[in-house]
Amino acid sequence: MLVKERLFTPGPVPLPPQVIKALGQQIIHHRTPEFTKIFFQVREKLQKLLQTDRDVILFSSSGTGGMEASILNFFSTGDKVLVINAGKFGQRWRDLGKTFGLNVIDYQIPWGETYDREKVESIAKENPDLKGILVQQSETSTTTYHDINFLSKVASSLDDCLLVVDGITSVGVYEVYPEKDGIDILVSGSQKAFMLPPGLSILYYSEKAERRLPKSNIPKYYFDVEKETKKQREGQTAYTPAISLIIALNESLSMMLDEGIPQLAKRHSILAEATREAVKEIGLQLLSKSPSNSATGVYTPEGIDGNQLRKTLLDLGFRVAGGQDHLKGKILRLAHMGYFDFNDITQLIAGLEMALYKSGFNIELGKGVAKAQQVFVKNI
Ligand SMILES: Cc1ncc(COP(=O)(O)O)c(C=O)c1O
Repeated sequence: MLVKERLFTPGPVPLPPQVIKALGQQIIHHRTPEFTKIFFQVREKLQKLLQTDRDVILFSSSGTGGMEASILNFFSTGDKVLVINAGKFGQRWRDLGKTFGLNVIDYQIPWGETYDREKVESIAKENPDLKGILVQQSETSTTTYHDINFLSKVASSLDDCLLVVDGITSVGVYEVYPEKDGIDILVSGSQKAFMLPPGLSILYYSEKAERRLPKSNIPKYYFDVEKETKKQREGQTAYTPAISLIIALNESLSMMLDEGIPQLAKRHSILAEATREAVKEIGLQLLSKSPSNSATGVYTPEGIDGNQLRKTLLDLGFRVAGGQDHLKGKILRLAHMGYFDFNDITQLIAGLEMALYKSGFNIELGKGVAKAQQVFVKNI
């Protein structure tokens, strides 16, 4: 029987038709007024999205490139930083920090949990020379949300401490306004709520962070924020940009701004709530104690192998993600960030119920779907 494949992984995510159309165009040359015009439009839309007049710059790289740029440009070897390490991407902050010679305080948190406020306060008290707090706003590996406001207060209570936020799966899912939220450096990536293929990282930095730029002693060449900012203010990039992705970003940013950021955040919160309520109704346990609105992690039931369940789901048309590291084979991650509406979620829950049923799990078909529907009729 024909089965269509539907993508529900936490990056890449499905592309809207407007983006596919933009990507299908003949390439243009980037050292042209035509490209510069589009690039300026993109810059302005990124500023609108993040409610800032400051530069928001792009690198042709995956999200990790933007994370690396944050370390290279705003820190110096030996700088002491606190890493909120609650998953795979928290580890990435730690590893990047160590790679470039920072003095990393690695605050390890069990996967699926968020940080403890008192613990963060006490680390800050014992280390008033902290130069940065590095965190994921949404830790995708554990589908966990970390509150930024508290960390921003802690960072600003110190002498010279930057709050560095990996917003790779939070920008476009939540209302993220770095100036209002007290974020000094914000990184995002194209293949998440920006609804594009992978290949662009997006970087905002505050005035306070900017003051660090001339002081940083870590060597950099490609990921040079000062060099890029200068060029991008002229509507160009230092090196050949990912032209097609930037043209497509112009489209996806229009979609996001047309929907409105508060409305977009509300949609994501409704989709996430429906998913969480439905999986609980089915009898599954949530992975996270502080769940993110970008994706929902659930433990697979006792006796059912997560990888096999994922395969069964794929046979039914749903490609979802599994767990990383010690969570491999133990969880499913169901994404709902980007180009998703309520019908996508009811389909996904129906598919999940069928996959569980076929795997021998004791389930009454339709129960989870009904729960999701209840959330939707209440909110739509
Ligand atoms: C929160 C978070 N940080 C960092 C990354 C790494 O981004 P990339 O794979 O684009 O380098 C990801 C990718 O899934 C992510 O979800």
